[in-house]
Amino acid sequence: MTQDELKNEVAKAALKYVVPETIIGVGTGSTANFFIDQLATIKDSIRGAVASSIETANRLKSHGIHVFDLNEVSEISVYIDGTDESNHDLNLIKGGGGALTREKIVATTSKQFVCIADDSKLVDILGKFPLPIEVIPMASNYVKREVVKSIGGNPILREEFTTDNGNLILDIHDLNIDSPKALESQLNNIVGVVTNGLFACRSADILLLASQEGVDIIEP
Ligand code: A5P
Repeated sequence: MTQDELKNEVAKAALKYVVPETIIGVGTGSTANFFIDQLATIKDSIRGAVASSIETANRLKSHGIHVFDLNEVSEISVYIDGTDESNHDLNLIKGGGGALTREKIVATTSKQFVCIADDSKLVDILGKFPLPIEVIPMASNYVKREVVKSIGGNPILREEFTTDNGNLILDIHDLNIDSPKALESQLNNIVGVVTNGLFACRSADILLLASQEGVDIIEP
């Protein structure tokens, strides 16, 4: 199977976790796109979805799936999204597509977080994938300097990219993340950082991982 076929398989497997008659949260990225296309096949079983990006909202709407604003909703049964990396505790690095802030908000609001990925995403130590942080534009150089001074790594401004919230992304290269929760909090404490792509304080509850052998269910 190609990587896209693996993504489609895992997207299909995630349909089992969709809770009928509820509002679900939907992530962003190529794996999430496969999930949205699969979700369209059972769209009448849910009330609708909260989207983690404008791109995802548009794709949901194109399938006739009702998109709720998060402020209209008091409960999200399950959040389904891809990842850039996951360790064995289901701590994640997300934000390769730049949607990390809205993804983290929807994931945190949801009762269950089901992460879907192909097996290239499972790692022993997070950090080979550059860690994205969303920053307020006027603070980007300050945040860069603070990251180098207090954390290390090599923060690089993502060229010609603005988030759905009108902010910038710094990608921190060359990290070896052995304490994801501590690093997540430390980065959040730098003034000018909106959020960072570590999902350790709110990690995934289940990882569905597609390989040539099938889809494994991984729990921490
Ligand atoms: C979007 O900002 C990201 O967090 C994506 O969820 C993540 O990058 C996974 O994307 P792919 O499914 O395209 O690899």
